[in-house]
Amino acid sequence: MTAFTINGKAVASRADPVTPLLWVIRDEIGLKGSKFGCGIGMCGACTVHVDGRAVRSCITPVGAVANTQITTIEGLSADGQHPLQKAWITTQAPQCGYCQSGQIMQAATLLKDHPTPTDADIDTVMSGNLCRCMAYVRIRKAIKLAAAEMKGAASHA
Ligand code: FES
Ligand code: FES
Repeated sequence: MTAFTINGKAVASRADPVTPLLWVIRDEIGLKGSKFGCGIGMCGACTVHVDGRAVRSCITPVGAVANTQITTIEGLSADGQHPLQKAWITTQAPQCGYCQSGQIMQAATLLKDHPTPTDADIDTVMSGNLCRCMAYVRIRKAIKLAAAEMKGAASHA
């Protein structure tokens, strides 16, 4: 049994501790927003946060996340109104959409570390998140839009 918190809810997984976290999130817990792309840590489609950091859940054994706080795309905001989610809609960033939950989760940690990201920051942090639809230009635009909104909110706080 591996106990952890996911999107604020305490859970205990019965899966073998070597089972990939992604399998547990999708098949045992039933949250389907995190996607399976490559299964070898190379595409970023499965990205979730573990204790606030972006992690590839396809190569993370569930046993390694005992007693952590996990956030998936479903828990990024209670109402889907995270600045990144709003910016993704405004810019119509997705094409097929398959990579996009991973892109957003990775971008959320980017903005934590770089509240005003440069193109180089975006390239460095987002380079492991692949998009077979080549939506990179819109993703970059969305990240900058979200950063501007978050900065504006902070200056009005
Ligand atoms: S499915 Fe995890 S990195 Fe590709
Ligand atoms: S929008 Fe299709 S893979 Fe990225």
